[in-house]
Amino acid sequence: MKIAVANGDGIGPEIMEAVIGVFKAAELPLEYQFVDMGKWVFDKGFSNGMTPEAKATIEQLGILFKGPMETPKGKGVKSVNVTARKTWNTYANERHFQTLSGVNTVFSKAGVNVDLTIVRENIEDTYGGVEHMLTQDVAVARRFITRGGSEQVIRYAFEMAQKKGAKRITCGHKANIMKLTDGLFLEVFNEIAKEYKDIKADDIIVDDLCMKLVSRPDLFDVIVLTNLQGDIVSDLCAGLVGGLGFAPSSNIGDHISIFEAVHGTAPDIAGKNIANPTSLLLSGLNMLRHLGLMSKAAMIENALLYTLESGVHTGDFGDKSIPSLNTTQFAQAIIDNFGKQPKVNAKPSLNDFEFVPTNSKITTNPMLLGKKKEEHAIAGADFFIESELQADAIAEIANKHETADLKLLIISNRGTQVWPTGSVYTNLVNQFRLRFEAGENASIAQQDVISLYSTLSKDFQISSVEVLNMWGGKKAYSLAQGQ
Ligand code: NAI
Repeated sequence: MKIAVANGDGIGPEIMEAVIGVFKAAELPLEYQFVDMGKWVFDKGFSNGMTPEAKATIEQLGILFKGPMETPKGKGVKSVNVTARKTWNTYANERHFQTLSGVNTVFSKAGVNVDLTIVRENIEDTYGGVEHMLTQDVAVARRFITRGGSEQVIRYAFEMAQKKGAKRITCGHKANIMKLTDGLFLEVFNEIAKEYKDIKADDIIVDDLCMKLVSRPDLFDVIVLTNLQGDIVSDLCAGLVGGLGFAPSSNIGDHISIFEAVHGTAPDIAGKNIANPTSLLLSGLNMLRHLGLMSKAAMIENALLYTLESGVHTGDFGDKSIPSLNTTQFAQAIIDNFGKQPKVNAKPSLNDFEFVPTNSKITTNPMLLGKKKEEHAIAGADFFIESELQADAIAEIANKHETADLKLLIISNRGTQVWPTGSVYTNLVNQFRLRFEAGENASIAQQDVISLYSTLSKDFQISSVEVLNMWGGKKAYSLAQGQ
């Protein structure tokens, strides 16, 4: 099997060399094709941080094993890590957090075993970076949660949970506040859960999840979350097991998957051969298991666990009374321990399976379509306007633009209603939402929204308009107070 390998920047080449050394010593049936990606490729003038040859190789091979990469500072430059994950639609970010002997944490000292996996949605949410300044004082970000995107990641989480024999899968969310976005994610989770009867599926509000993770992490098994919440919660979990240096990461897609360490390029120690290769090695072990090399992965992981258990460590962790090893020596210690079993958390040697690559050539972009469309209607529109007037004064002007079909229903500021009722204690910013709706069960045409836009624009600077959709007679927008 051939895989693409990108060394990365900073400590990347050192830790990659150490890990590939371990893989070669284990006589894995792998061929490594090195590709050009990272800061130095940006510096050569390739704006996405990779050469066209690198992109073609990765798309052909379907597997990328990568070291950390530096994002050059400055506007208009996107992180090569994020670009890679988004371009190739690696929709599921899987990170496994386990107590490692020899890596002391408050939990290991208390005898609490951590062994949990976070699956984070990797493409959507606010990570689309679709942001606008509506006024000079007001910035907004669009948060995309889609049925198709949620289905992909949640189904992956259930499949993975089933394969590893997990007993419980938990959906973390904030659907109590974000009823449509997180509500959709939770709805899809509950639908898919019905197909996996052997796994206990439950959900938890994300703030409660954080509290429970730092008090009883041993209660959790697999947790699936939206992108931003998953980003934060997974770094919280890295802290539970000793930091980012011990947390592997897989980015799984249907055609291309990326395996990488989650820490950065550590410029402060680059070139010194003292970096800890554990996170990259654990990510590499995820890759071996993805490729069906289960027994070799277990053998290498047991050697790593045995090595850590023996007190062997690099300079960034471990018992300071035992001299630390450099990167090369640490990798050699693991090789020397091939065949040894750790006392705690030894990995079973599961059956190998044949990896069937799914990186078949596709010629059009896949379209993720959800359930059948119900009858569509427009109930009205929210107009976002810039103004420094009080709400009553805005209403007086806006009321003049009401039509027979569209009536001004509410005005809100930062989502808080300020007209027809409100409180003088509500602080205002210079951006208001005017909600115009047709009457109960009535609908309007797109042209009515455009006409209203045209007349309102005579009195207001309009920064944005959002159509109020209905499907199957149901309102598909968040309701205002009292609505
Ligand atoms: P960092 O993770 O590179 O460093 C934070 C601290 O952890 C430093 O003190 C560093 O020496 C230490 N550290 C990190 N990895 C280590 C290892 N394997 N062994 C021993 N010590 C280690 O985070 P920072 O400084 O915020 O970012 C540096 C650069 O890395 C930035 O350009 C950033 O864009 C990039 N980065 C890349 C990522 C990726 O490729 N996936 C992820 C995070 C940051």
